Amino acid sequence: MMYNEIILDHFRSPRNVGELENANGIGEVGNAVCGDMMTFYLDIKDDIIVDAKYKTFGCGAAIAVSSMVSEMIIGKNIYEVMKLTHNDISKQLGGLPPQKEHCSNLGIDAVKKAIESYLAGKEKKTENL
Ligand code: FES
Repeated sequence: MMYNEIILDHFRSPRNVGELENANGIGEVGNAVCGDMMTFYLDIKDDIIVDAKYKTFGCGAAIAVSSMVSEMIIGKNIYEVMKLTHNDISKQLGGLPPQKEHCSNLGIDAVKKAIESYLAGKEKKTENL
């Protein structure tokens, strides 16, 4: 299988890898078919993602996807990020090989789940006021 240079670069030197202690949004997803897993940690202030990190146990494409996603979402409004699709990520990476397209789902699904957990936490806080 051939990966392009952008994917290889993100795979070899993934950006923003790790965990965020002060994350207020966490999303974990897995792919039942390949068994790969990804967790995104978000630090969100006033609906803006100020920091993002992740842990990816997966194929090279999944690692490149998480790295690219983290770069695409830092500094963005959560509602803007909710509109991103796996195609947007694949495009930013210069296109994933067809059999690796599903790996981009993992990235966007993990981020959306993390945003949902942030929104659920925010709702709870308002309820307690
Ligand atoms: Fe499973 Fe890439 S092969 S995420």
